[in-house]
Amino acid sequence: MLNEYLPFDPAEDLPLLCASGALDGNVAQFAQPRGPDLLRRSAPLDAWCALRARHGVWPYARVLEGPPEPLATVGGEAGAGEAVRGINFASQDYLSLAAHPAIADAALRALGEAGPHSAGSAVLLGNTRYSLELEQALGELLGLGQVVLFPTGWAAAFGALTALVHSADYVVIDQLAHASLRQGAQAATRNVLVHRHLDCDHVRELLAGIRSRDSANAILVVTEGLFSMDADSPDLPLLQHLCREYKATLLVDVAHDLGAMGPGGLGVIGAQRMQGRVDIVVGAFSKSFAANGGFVACAERPARRQLQMYAGPHMFSNALSPVQAAVVLESLRIVTSGEGDGLRADLMRNAVELRALLGEAGLRCLGEASPIVPVWMGTEAAARVAGMLLARDAVFVNPVEYPGVPLGAARLRLQLMANHTPAQVRRAAPLVAAAAARAGASRPQPERRRG
Ligand SMILES: Cc1ncc(COP(=O)(O)O)c(C=O)c1O
Repeated sequence: MLNEYLPFDPAEDLPLLCASGALDGNVAQFAQPRGPDLLRRSAPLDAWCALRARHGVWPYARVLEGPPEPLATVGGEAGAGEAVRGINFASQDYLSLAAHPAIADAALRALGEAGPHSAGSAVLLGNTRYSLELEQALGELLGLGQVVLFPTGWAAAFGALTALVHSADYVVIDQLAHASLRQGAQAATRNVLVHRHLDCDHVRELLAGIRSRDSANAILVVTEGLFSMDADSPDLPLLQHLCREYKATLLVDVAHDLGAMGPGGLGVIGAQRMQGRVDIVVGAFSKSFAANGGFVACAERPARRQLQMYAGPHMFSNALSPVQAAVVLESLRIVTSGEGDGLRADLMRNAVELRALLGEAGLRCLGEASPIVPVWMGTEAAARVAGMLLARDAVFVNPVEYPGVPLGAARLRLQLMANHTPAQVRRAAPLVAAAAARAGASRPQPERRRG
């Protein structure tokens, strides 16, 4: 086992780490354990995680002490190891609203007025005046009057697909879409067609193929505003146009861009002038709105009814608490104000500077400037080692490997906040570059072909 307090010497320590086996394997190998003992048959997975943890290359389930701020104190899984204070690029609080005094005030007011708990699903007395106001405000922002709230962003995505799509319908989905969308599609129908990432020609081909043999059933085209592992965006006007041409419906998940990007916080939909023109918008409050929760928005009342009555996580799960709804409402007020514009400008300044510094150091940042800066590592081993080295340097990032991204496409994901200071960005960039070099990150790959 490597001593986390001693410097890491790649020449001496990397062979030791390789020999330990902690850099081998991936989650895919353990996905389908066999045998009758449901509770014990995952022992090989457990042993593999423990081996990685012993060697310092298990960066998951860490513990944040205090709020998710740019400087944060982070401990290991289940309190393992000593907590370390460092620069935090691993939390999702893009506009730094979690620590905003107006948000704390809104939470406390709602707590005093309505208590901490919704005490029912939205269908069974779980609504509050905060949740109704939130539906209204979101509808106005998006230009889509029918809004349904969900307890999480995951629930919104999964709920939308499973409520709206029937077994005879089709889903055409981007190959890199989030697991909540992919799993929702799989749960809804066997007719799931995966298109190459951002490739609108491929979408057209698939839609034409479906419509050449089936004009009776519905097609849902599923994409994201900002892909959370790749920091890139589709051509929404073209996708919506294709949907009209082939009598399909477009769903865009804006979990990562709404609030954090675009004019007035309208995300990629605003940047591409698609406000009120996308059929279905799904989102999460957990990245820019300082609370758990999610929503589905559209213009049609019948679809709202369908979601209300058939989206399991809306119907059968307790609604957002009054505190969460009040926090999101106050966040929305800030997002759409001049203060929101300032926070987005700070966030984008950080993104542009971090990407420039990492690029100058020879690293490849995927996608475009956004709150997410994915840094290409290639092998899972390189991502694990780089993440470990950065944690030793008190810089927290999320190393992402399968199933978050395809095998062999591992990366470090850095998430920025408006309150990161330029000094923090400048301090972290050379440390990221040094960690990637020592970990043996693969050479930058050429850009993938875009549709
Ligand atoms: C595109 C997308 N949809 C949904 C979710 C789930 O959101 P939540 O964490 O609020 O459940 C995420 C989470 O990262 C996401 O990236």
